[in-house]
Amino acid sequence: MSQPLKVAVAGLGTVGSGTVGLLEANAALLERRAGRTIVVSAVADLDRRDRGFSVDGYAWYEDAVAMAKEADVDVVVELIGGSEGAARAVCEAAIAAGRHVVTANKALIAHHGMELAIAAEAAGVTLAYEAAVGGGIPIIKGLREGLVGNNHRRIYGILNGTCNYILTTMQASGREFGEVLAEAQALGYAEADPSFDVDGIDTAHKLAILCTVAFGCTLDFDSIHVEGIRHVSSVDIAFAEELGYRIKLLGIAALTDNGVERRVHPCMVPLSAPIAHVEGVFNAVVADGDFVDRVVMEGRGAGERPTASAVVADIVDIARGQRVPVFAVPASRLEKLPAAAMSGHRGAYYVRLMVLDRPGVFADVAGVLRDHHVSMEAVLQRARAPDEPVPVVMTTHDTEEAAMVGSLEEIAAMAACVEPPRMIRIEPF
Ligand SMILES: NC(=O)c1ccc[n+]([C@@H]2O[C@H](COP(=O)([O-])OP(=O)(O)OC[C@H]3O[C@@H](n4cnc5c(N)ncnc54)[C@H](OP(=O)(O)O)[C@@H]3O)[C@@H](O)[C@H]2O)c1
Repeated sequence: MSQPLKVAVAGLGTVGSGTVGLLEANAALLERRAGRTIVVSAVADLDRRDRGFSVDGYAWYEDAVAMAKEADVDVVVELIGGSEGAARAVCEAAIAAGRHVVTANKALIAHHGMELAIAAEAAGVTLAYEAAVGGGIPIIKGLREGLVGNNHRRIYGILNGTCNYILTTMQASGREFGEVLAEAQALGYAEADPSFDVDGIDTAHKLAILCTVAFGCTLDFDSIHVEGIRHVSSVDIAFAEELGYRIKLLGIAALTDNGVERRVHPCMVPLSAPIAHVEGVFNAVVADGDFVDRVVMEGRGAGERPTASAVVADIVDIARGQRVPVFAVPASRLEKLPAAAMSGHRGAYYVRLMVLDRPGVFADVAGVLRDHHVSMEAVLQRARAPDEPVPVVMTTHDTEEAAMVGSLEEIAAMAACVEPPRMIRIEPF
């Protein structure tokens, strides 16, 4: 039997504790599958407070970077979080010391994955990050290994469980965003500061990574168009249902004639699409390979146990001696593809106006859309109520984003339009 694989864990919070717990609970199974024992040798955190397990048997460090440099280990598992500071320093120090690195840190990989991958490949060590996208869903391995024979032109998914929980609860209960967010915070599904989740940034971190693995292009977080879910209202959710759609926050990456489109925003997805039925805190990723066709992977996108499952999968790969390029092709050979501007995006749109129901208003709206070459597909108008604002909902045929945005700017300036128009992109999955 080979030598044991010695592991150091930096950060003993939710995922760190779960990872140590899984490595201990399933030690015999992992030994059979990896062909060698996997032992936690060292751990680091800011203090020794009770984390539900004893740290007495491990070399203890309060300086995680010192652990990454000095501990007698083969693998450093970074579970501190954040794109800068200790998390980044731990990974850099571990690679420089010739140790493999496993991380669940999407922010770190999205912002510094290129430098880290180049350093890891030069040092001949693994940089693995399965848990960074989709929590327990093995989407990185799925794309990089299982679907390696396919060209992908599009990949998309529900990548943030907090947002999906909020949207599905709004849909089921008819309640508004703020109320459901407060409930999600009370239940521990949303952070006290929810902006990373609800403003789409966390989804964008994961999309940046997926896009690179799927298309072999360089990481480009800054080119992602990001909108969150704060403006989604229960009125739009109800109209979506009536029109045969669900509203989901999606991350979508696609190769288009204008370059790589990378976008995160609420979408209307048809009820016939599998992703419309992914509920609560679950995540799902959909890949369309040219040979395999559509592959849908759904599962828990966060949480102690599902995320530990993904972290341990990476550790077992290292124990088995399995090495693959960090992003499916060596980092130095990733292509710098042009980013497609959002203004050139083509698609169908849902638009909701709140207008005073006066004669001629709708003719004026239709005139603006005509002038911008936006063609309407359907119109829904609620009961007439003189001098009360009423919702007018329209869906359009495929049109260019710039034309849609230009028309809505003009419509918003009309005296009869009492609220900013709401626009949600319709995705024809
Ligand atoms: N939670 C999930 O479900 C989930 C899912 C997928 C990916 N992830 C990723 O996994 C990583 C860890 O997330 P988490 O939820 O486990 O976070 P967490 O519960 O906040 O755990 C982080 C731990 O690191 C400790 N820490 C902070 N600074 C440190 C330092 N300089 N040196 C050593 N330890 C330090 C923290 O201590 P204090 O508490 O004292 O600050 C805490 O115990 C993040 O990158 C996150 O994005 C999490």
